[in-house]
Amino acid sequence: MPYQNILIENKERIQYIIINRETKLNALNEATLAELRFAFELAFGNPDVGGIIITGAGKKAFVAGADIAEFSGVDVPGSITIARLGHGIFNMIENGGKPVIAAINGFALGGGLELAMACHIRLAADTAKMGLPEVTLGLIPGYGGTQRLARLVGKGKALEMIMTADMINAFEAFEYGLVNHVESHENLLPRAEEILNKILSRAPLAIASAITAINAGQNGIDGFETEIENFSKCFQTEDLQEGISAFLQKRKPIFKGK
Ligand code: COA
Repeated sequence: MPYQNILIENKERIQYIIINRETKLNALNEATLAELRFAFELAFGNPDVGGIIITGAGKKAFVAGADIAEFSGVDVPGSITIARLGHGIFNMIENGGKPVIAAINGFALGGGLELAMACHIRLAADTAKMGLPEVTLGLIPGYGGTQRLARLVGKGKALEMIMTADMINAFEAFEYGLVNHVESHENLLPRAEEILNKILSRAPLAIASAITAINAGQNGIDGFETEIENFSKCFQTEDLQEGISAFLQKRKPIFKGK
């Protein structure tokens, strides 16, 4: 698929997915969502890609939301299609089995914050602003935001953010637990790479199992049972033998993802 709205860059085992609609503050229109789905499917299936960093083009916005212009004239069945499309893509990102870091380089609003919340780790530039302002339009978040925000920051703060539609700055987002780190604009991507490279030095199948187990409990599946199953799955891997041998031999492990 030739991309019109996103850019792909590869840096060793890291793949950058950059949302590239700068004049519209990287708002997610239908075409961009379709490209994102395609790009993530390819990245998850590509053995050369260890993990993904998603960010927005330019300095102003990560993603300023779903494309509001596309909402006018949408009927009720159309609205369900829109919400299900977003849910499908963001669930795929969350459960894809490879680490995904959101580098929030500016506004992350509405669907933009929902996209960032579907990623496994969020880093924010110190200039970033975040919020779910859908009620200002007469809407509620429709790409998983009511659920993921409440899980990340707690029900009370989520209700306040969603009902007031207020934006919070990067430092407030850090205090809320919405982002893991706040960096200067210059350090945002280097820090994201540093964290992702550390994750990529660990056993990839164990990382995938950890993602599955952590997500399970939050998605209505028995998380403790899933942990037991995934713990035992690790015992079927060559990487576990390598990890144990390397520890006992006081050397660094060489994981193969097998
Ligand atoms: N959907 C469609 N277009 C959007 C957009 C969105 N979510 N967010 C920004 N844009 C467009 C603007 O319409 C404008 O386009 P134009 O130059 O063709 O008129 C361009 O991006 C620049 O935005 P602008 O509003 O002029 O920038 P600003 O610095 O004055 O304000 C924001 C920045 C983020 C505060 C403001 O753009 C905004 O409130 N965006 C909507 C946020 C939102 O409600 N998101 C949830 C959607 S469900």
